Amino acid sequence: MTEIRAADRDAIDQAAGLLRRGELVAIPTETVYGLAANATDDRAVARIFEAKGRPRFNPLIVHVGSPAEAARFAVMDDRVQELAQRFWPGPLTLVVPVRPPPPSGAAEPSPPSTLSPLATAGLDTVAVRLPAHPVARAVIAAAGVPLAAPSANRSGAVSPTDPRAVHEELAERVALILAAGRSPIGVESTVLDLCGDRPHLLRPGGCPLEEIVEAIGPVETAAVRADDDAMRPRSPGLAGRHYAPRTPLRLEARHHKAGEALVTFGPDLRQGPEVANLSADGDLVEAAANLFHLLRRLDKGGYAAIAVSPIPMAGLGLAINDRLRRAALPDRIG
Ligand code: TXA
Ligand code: MG
Repeated sequence: MTEIRAADRDAIDQAAGLLRRGELVAIPTETVYGLAANATDDRAVARIFEAKGRPRFNPLIVHVGSPAEAARFAVMDDRVQELAQRFWPGPLTLVVPVRPPPPSGAAEPSPPSTLSPLATAGLDTVAVRLPAHPVARAVIAAAGVPLAAPSANRSGAVSPTDPRAVHEELAERVALILAAGRSPIGVESTVLDLCGDRPHLLRPGGCPLEEIVEAIGPVETAAVRADDDAMRPRSPGLAGRHYAPRTPLRLEARHHKAGEALVTFGPDLRQGPEVANLSADGDLVEAAANLFHLLRRLDKGGYAAIAVSPIPMAGLGLAINDRLRRAALPDRIG
């Protein structure tokens, strides 16, 4: 049963506890209601995509409690700090490079202490935002972790701006809906890409472009970068580079050949250092949570190819197959 609770202290603490345990909670922000999960928990982030019914893993906005918290996983250069100082807390999302992980020889999958790669859809950039809504801020503070939160609607529907609309969209797919009336702004945050020399507007929203220009000068408004290269996906809103293994992928594989790695799904007796199971239980949420970690690990193994067993085209299987197909493209875009 999905609970709807007025966002008092007790409800906020309950929300924080649920989020720390990997559950989904709908929270009010000043723009629209968000479907929040612990951004450092692979499984929790996978469940966002499941709940929304998204057919692909698109990158999510990571909500933080302070610029310092953002700096733990994002590169915050002077220009970014300046924008943060001026517009945070508020409806401005900044897309910046992900801070490279610490050098590791550590075995993966390791307990994620940093952002889940699913939160950025495997990009090397991340969208960060410090919301102004007091309830959103209280939940982030109480949870003590950054929160990945897309708008709290099913894929393709409009963003909900009151708790009833959230319930219509996500009832039974979310543990708790924190209710705080109508979203004061009512449109999503402005998304600004700061990864290149010139800032690019990726999505107009609650923070007026004029104010941004006044603060930092000219902003490109063409959705596609003029300097895009082959590695940059051409679709609007995807400015970064997707992780794709250098090792060729062979999809819909029943067996692997000598020298190949094998990714399996569901009960499978094959074992060995070259074999990795996305989910022995056949659980697509677990498979999504493991996907980027397993691919990265096998990519480092020097295999001739990574053979991937068929993944069912249901639920999160759509997004997993979409991601695998794009990773298998010879030009490795996206
Ligand atoms: O107002 C909002 O921003 C709401 C509330 C809940 O905070 N959230 C929201 O999230 O609208 P979502 O997932 O519906 O929209 C995220 C937007 C998308 O346009 C996505 O493409 C873009 O941010 N985005 C996220 N990460 C990105 C990245 N690394 N590079 C480029 N665009 C990114
Ligand atoms: Mg949305």
